[in-house]
Amino acid sequence: MALPTPTADARAVITGASSGIGAALAADLAARGHSLIVVARRTELLEALAARLTEQHGVTVEVRGLDLSDRDARATLVDELAARPISVLCNNAGIATFGPVAGLDAGYERAQVELNAVAVHDLTLAVLPGMIERGEGAILMVGSAAGNMAIPNNATYAATKAFVNTFSESLRGELKGTGVNVTLLAPGPVRTEQPAPEDASIVDRMVPDFLWTSSEYTAKLSLDSLGRNKMRIVPGVLSKAMSLAGQYSPRAITAPIVGRFYQKLGD
Ligand SMILES: NC(=O)c1ccc[n+]([C@@H]2O[C@H](COP(=O)([O-])OP(=O)(O)OC[C@H]3O[C@@H](n4cnc5c(N)ncnc54)[C@H](OP(=O)(O)O)[C@@H]3O)[C@@H](O)[C@H]2O)c1
Repeated sequence: MALPTPTADARAVITGASSGIGAALAADLAARGHSLIVVARRTELLEALAARLTEQHGVTVEVRGLDLSDRDARATLVDELAARPISVLCNNAGIATFGPVAGLDAGYERAQVELNAVAVHDLTLAVLPGMIERGEGAILMVGSAAGNMAIPNNATYAATKAFVNTFSESLRGELKGTGVNVTLLAPGPVRTEQPAPEDASIVDRMVPDFLWTSSEYTAKLSLDSLGRNKMRIVPGVLSKAMSLAGQYSPRAITAPIVGRFYQKLGD
């Protein structure tokens, strides 16, 4: 089953389209002829993306500048998506924090749960009835290899991505025969932009360039896999290694090792 065929009315929705993997997903979908609704807080970046994609591909791109961690703001989008023919939903927006959760800002941690997990649930439930009724639809869930593991010093992020990973792969089983595809993208590190040397994190410094996966490659592989209704996609050698280690090693052994590494990220 391929991705839904683009039509004048149908929209592909991409959350977190103002940068990184989300911007690459938007560009790839536009190149495939889909008109879009792009969502993020930085409206000026979305407007620039919309103008570029409309000029390059002749598609319609609607901008929704909103904070998806805000329940009231999100409810407006949920209502809109429930009422419109949404062909593709890419649940991509996400944030991460590092360090012991007790020392982090509680409000920001809660916003992380709202954005990474509750918004994914809300938006998916908004579009599902219409997709099932039309017998056609595609949902890309952007989880993470981090969602396979217990990660001290990245606790909220790892837990929210565990939600996304499990929700995606469970939901997929419920939709067999409906015409609605669901694919989980569960990457390890994806280099969304080349950091300046002074901004390079420990991950940037430790992982050699040839092991990094780009946003563009990740987006294309994800959308091709969504068209084939693959269960899970893990792009690149590094992601695959992290994914396997996380899925099949005892947590009692991996958690302290991974936690020490993430402590350095927190520092
Ligand atoms: N890059 C990686 O190594 C990697 C690895 C595994 C998983 N992932 C996952 O991939 C997804 C995209 O990550 P990325 O690396 O491309 O990150 P990114 O470049 O930081 O992009 C994150 C996107 O989410 C949006 N966003 C953040 N907070 C938001 C909010 N409150 N409301 C609405 N939009 C919000 C941002 O837009 P605004 O700031 O304009 O709102 C931005 O467009 C995330 O879910 C991430 O967890 C990434």
